[in-house]
Amino acid sequence: MLEKAQQLKEQFVEKVNAATASAELEQLRIEFLGKKGPISSLMAELRNVPNEQKKEAGQIINEVKQFIEVTITAKKEELQKIEEQKLIDSAEDYDVTFPIDEDKGSYHPITLIQREVEDIFASMGFAIEDYDEIVDDYHCFEALNIPKHHPARDMQDTYYLSTNQLLKTHTSAAQNAIYIKYKNDLEAGKPIRAIFPGRCFRNEKIDACHENTFFQMEGVMVDKDISISNLIYFMKTMLSEVFQRDITVRLRPGFFPFVEPGFELDIQCAICGGKGCPSCKDSGWLELCPCGMIHPNVLSAAGIDPEEYTGFAFGLGLTRLAMMRYGVKDIRVFNSCSLKSLSQFENKTFVEPEKEVK
Ligand code: PHE
Repeated sequence: MLEKAQQLKEQFVEKVNAATASAELEQLRIEFLGKKGPISSLMAELRNVPNEQKKEAGQIINEVKQFIEVTITAKKEELQKIEEQKLIDSAEDYDVTFPIDEDKGSYHPITLIQREVEDIFASMGFAIEDYDEIVDDYHCFEALNIPKHHPARDMQDTYYLSTNQLLKTHTSAAQNAIYIKYKNDLEAGKPIRAIFPGRCFRNEKIDACHENTFFQMEGVMVDKDISISNLIYFMKTMLSEVFQRDITVRLRPGFFPFVEPGFELDIQCAICGGKGCPSCKDSGWLELCPCGMIHPNVLSAAGIDPEEYTGFAFGLGLTRLAMMRYGVKDIRVFNSCSLKSLSQFENKTFVEPEKEVK
C-alpha cells in the first residue's frame, strides 16, 4: 500500500510538472481524484488491509490525496497568472494603425444620433463637452437648486455608491462645471454655448419607453439678453435638421428647480403618428426635450451674476430621439446587445409614421 501510494505520488508529480496550461490541471484533478481514479481505488483497497495497519494506510492515502489537491490548486494559480500576463502582453501588440474592416461592425444607433446632433450644434457655434458618469450630490442636485430633501429628488432616484457619490441622473449634473469653465470667456464678452451628451442612470421601472440607463444631451447658452425666443429657435432648428421634415411639437409648462420658467417640449410620436401606442404610453406625444431659462440660483452657484446674464438650458432625450428617428418601438433594444437589431441603422434615414391601411 505504502509503495503504491508513493508511486502514485511520483506519477502525479511528473504529470503536474509537465502541465503547461491551467485547463490541463482540471483534467489532472479528474484523473487522480475522480470517482474512478487511483485514489478512490486505493481507498477501496483499504478493505483488504489487516486491521492493525488500516489506520496508518488510511493516513498515507489521505496525505497523498491532500498533496495532490494542494499542488493542483497552487499550480493552477501559477499558470493562470502566466496566462493573464501573456494576454496583457499580447494586447500591447495590438496595432492601432491597422485598417478597420468596415464590414465587421457598425455604430450603435445612439452614437449615430449623438454625432448627428453634435454636428448640428457645432455648426451653430456650440462647444461639445464631456463629463463624468459618477458625480457627487452637489453637482447632481445642490448646485442645480435642488437642496437635500427637496421633493424633486424623488423623481430622480438613482444608484448610490459607498463613496457618497452617485451615478448621474441627468446631464444637468455637468452644468455647474461648464459655467465655471467658461465664466472668464463670458466676462470677456463671449457667450457660453455648450452641449454635453452623456449616459444617465435612474431607478426606473423598465418598460417599452423607460430604461434604467439612457442617454441625454444637455445644451446651455448664457449671455446678456438671452430669452425664450432663442431657446425655441435653437430647438426648432435642431429638430428640423434631425428629422429633415416638419415635425409637430408642443410646449407645455414643466417644473424643474434649475429653470424658471420651465417647459416640456413634446414631439408627436413618430411611431404611431400621434394615434397612441405603447412607445408613447398611448398619448400620441413623447416628452423629448425638457427645457427652460436657467434659474438665477444656478448661475449664482457658478459665480455668474444673474442680474447681468441670462441663459437657457435643455435636456434632450437622446435615447428617445433615436427611437423616433429610427422607429424603434422598444427602448430595451438599445441595451440588448443584440447585433441583429443594433447593426441595421447605419444607413437608415428617418422613419415615416405608420399609415393606417384602409
Ligand atoms: N435634467 C432634466 C431631467 O433630466 C431635464 C432638463 C434639462 C430640464 C435642462 C430643464 C433644463 O429631467
